[in-house]
Amino acid sequence: MTYYTNLYIYYFSGTGNAYSAAKWIKENGEKEGLNVYIQTIEKLENFKLKPPEGKTLFAFTYPTHGFAAPWLMLKFLWNFPRISNSDVLFVNTQAGSKIWKFYIPGMSGLAQWISIFIFWFKGYSVKGSLPLDMPHSWISFSPPNLRLFCNQMVERCHRIVNKMCDKIFTGKRYYRYTVWTHLWFDIAVSWITPLYLFCGRFFLAKTLFPSYNCNGCKICEIHCPVGAIEIRNGMPYWKYTCESCMRCMNICPQMAIQSWVTRIMLFFYLLTVAVIQLTNWNEYFIFLIVSILFFPIYWIFIKILHIKIINILFTYTSFTKLWNRYITPGVELSDFKRRNEKNRE
Ligand SMILES: Cc1cc2nc3c(=O)[nH]c(=O)nc-3n(C[C@H](O)[C@H](O)[C@H](O)COP(=O)(O)O)c2cc1C
Repeated sequence: MTYYTNLYIYYFSGTGNAYSAAKWIKENGEKEGLNVYIQTIEKLENFKLKPPEGKTLFAFTYPTHGFAAPWLMLKFLWNFPRISNSDVLFVNTQAGSKIWKFYIPGMSGLAQWISIFIFWFKGYSVKGSLPLDMPHSWISFSPPNLRLFCNQMVERCHRIVNKMCDKIFTGKRYYRYTVWTHLWFDIAVSWITPLYLFCGRFFLAKTLFPSYNCNGCKICEIHCPVGAIEIRNGMPYWKYTCESCMRCMNICPQMAIQSWVTRIMLFFYLLTVAVIQLTNWNEYFIFLIVSILFFPIYWIFIKILHIKIINILFTYTSFTKLWNRYITPGVELSDFKRRNEKNRE
C-alpha cells in the first residue's frame, strides 16, 4: 500500500546522471502503481500545473554545479507553485569517483539546502534529500572515471535510489547520512555558491572551443538543453545562457570540443600578477579590469580559431585532447531532447 497517488518527476541533466536518477524513481513509482509523470524542465515554457487529485510526491533531480543546483533548476524551483496535499524529494547528482575499491564522494555544498529551504518556505513537507555520487561529468577539468568504474558507480547509485524509493513511497523520510556527515563541509564551501552563480558560470561557458576536427554537424547545437550554442561560420559559439552542463563536449561524435580552462586560468593569473607588479593600482580594481577583458579576448580567440594552424596549436596543447568523454552508461543520445522537440513525456 503506497502513501502517494501521484508521482511527478522534474529533471535537468547534462550528461545523463540526473536523467538516470529520474528514470529509476519513475520505474519504482510505476512498480508501486502510482500515476507517474516525468518531464525535463528544459522546455517548460509558461509552466502551469493543474493540481492533481490525491496525495502527490514531487521529485526533482539535477546535477550539482558550483555547489548549487544549476541556475535553470533554481529558477524552476523558485517559481514552482504551492500545491496542497503534496510532498517533495530532491536528488542532486554529484561528482563521484572510484579509485581501486574506494568510492570517493562528490561535494554538494548548498545544492540540496537551497532547494530544501525554498520548499520549506513554500510550506511543503520535504520528504527526502539524496546527494547521489554518480560518475563525474566535468570533463573540461579532469578525465572521466574508467568505464568499468562508471558502470559500478551507476549500479551502486541505482540500488541507493531503489532503497530511497522503498522508504519514501511508504510515507517515511529519507535523508541520506551524507546530508549530515558532510554538513560541515557544505557550510564551509557555501561562500563559493554565490560566486559561481553570479560570476563563475559565465566564465565557464567561455572555456570551450571547437577544434579543427569540428565538421559543423550541429549535434551540439541541436542537443544543447538551453539553446546556448550557435553555429557561426560553421563552428559552435557558446552564448552566456550556457549552463556548462558539458553535454556538448561529451556527445560530440568527433570529440571536437576541447577546453582551454587551465590555460585561461593561468593566463589571467599571470596577467593579474604582471599588472600588480607594474602598477600601484588596487588589486581588486585590477582583478575587475582583467575579468572584463576576458570577454573581448574570448571573442577574438574564437575568431582566430578559424585559422587552422592556430586551432591545431590550441587543440594539441589542450589537456582535454588527451582524454575520453562521459555519458551515463545506459543513456543514449536519443534520450536527450532536441532543440525543436517539445516536452512530451
Ligand atoms: C560546471 C560544473 C560544476 C560542477 N560542480 C560540482 C560540484 O560543485 N560538486 C560536485 O560534487 N560535482 C560537481 N560537478 C559534477 C556534476 O554535478 C556531476 O557530474 C553530475 O552527476 C552530472 O549530472 P548530469 O549528468 O545529469 O549533468 C560539476 C559539473 C559541472 C559540469
